[in-house]
Amino acid sequence: MKKETTIAQIGVGYWGPNLLRNLIANEDCQVKWVSDLSEERRHFVKRLYPRVQLTDDVEQVFDDPDVDAVIIATPVATHFEMAMQALKKGKHILVEKPMAKTVAEVTAIGELAKSKNLVAMAGHTFVYNSAVRYLKKLIDSRELGEIRYIYSQRLNLGRIRNDVDALWNFAPHDISIIHYLLGDPKPVSVSKHGMDYVQPGIFDVVFLNIEYPNKIMANIHVSWLDPDKVRRLIVVGSEKMVVYDDIAVNKIAIYDKGIDKKAVLGEGMDYDEPGEFKFSHRSGDLVFPKIEYIEPLKTEIEHFLSCIQDGTECITGVEHAKKVVEVLSV
Ligand SMILES: NC(=O)c1ccc[n+]([C@@H]2O[C@H](COP(=O)([O-])OP(=O)(O)OC[C@H]3O[C@@H](n4cnc5c(N)ncnc54)[C@H](O)[C@@H]3O)[C@@H](O)[C@H]2O)c1
Repeated sequence: MKKETTIAQIGVGYWGPNLLRNLIANEDCQVKWVSDLSEERRHFVKRLYPRVQLTDDVEQVFDDPDVDAVIIATPVATHFEMAMQALKKGKHILVEKPMAKTVAEVTAIGELAKSKNLVAMAGHTFVYNSAVRYLKKLIDSRELGEIRYIYSQRLNLGRIRNDVDALWNFAPHDISIIHYLLGDPKPVSVSKHGMDYVQPGIFDVVFLNIEYPNKIMANIHVSWLDPDKVRRLIVVGSEKMVVYDDIAVNKIAIYDKGIDKKAVLGEGMDYDEPGEFKFSHRSGDLVFPKIEYIEPLKTEIEHFLSCIQDGTECITGVEHAKKVVEVLSV
């Protein structure tokens, strides 16, 4: 396989420019095409990157035999069609989150990619975030003990969309992070409670509850109708607790806090049952580890190219993407 991958990107609206900037900066790929229906967005790209070819017709991109891989950063409703077309034309794909609207669509994308030996990756950016990766190492090393529950808040007075609700817009991040942290478990149960205040039928705020095996609970609160920007995820373990705050200077705070349970036995009677317990609160050090910041999209794109060029297994491939859509579809 040749080392440099030729890329086409479809969609340069709000999020697409971040992907494009990182693709342009990466020496292992070359961006040949950008496609967007909007003339204004194509003009924006032309000013910044005059050597990139522009089109409003995605067919031109799919029909170009030079193109090895397509980045899809268009609204969710278009992902499935674009992904299938790209795969049929033999292109690897990186599809923004969520990969598609239904589990059946994600499954079909996965089957086609597998049959053609192509990479199909979802843009679950937070899996490539160094703070999230640090947190996963803490969990995997069992420094936090048994994981008990996780809750996450992604709130602000933000951009209101009309193509998806706040759940589909924000929660793919939280679900993807939690699944990555826990090793992609299959939920035991999922339920949600949401409400539409601004546009009929489109939830502005959603509380999502997930139960995983081994009594692990998760709660995700998303809203674009909230006074403060909050991006916080808290992991409570039996030994330690962690606050991951994505907008804080110290993104990870490790609390050596917990409740220890000791059996109260009778006075030296070996037939006593430990029916009673004594509880003691443990409150030790608070540690802010130093974590090197690397733009997550840089790492994400390096991983995508490594999957294509070296056959590295994709960590946000179809199986990860499918479980996210499964939870969103509750
Ligand atoms: N990973 C992240 O952190 C993150 C953040 C924001 C958005 N996203 C995802 O990125 C995707 C795009 O979101 P956005 O907020 O940038 O949307 P957007 O509406 O701002 O931009 C989408 C762009 O796609 C173009 N487009 C639509 N249909 C097209 C077609 N058929 N051919 C060519 N161009 C077409 C539009 O003209 C627009 O410029 C979504 O899947 C969203 O969930 C990811």
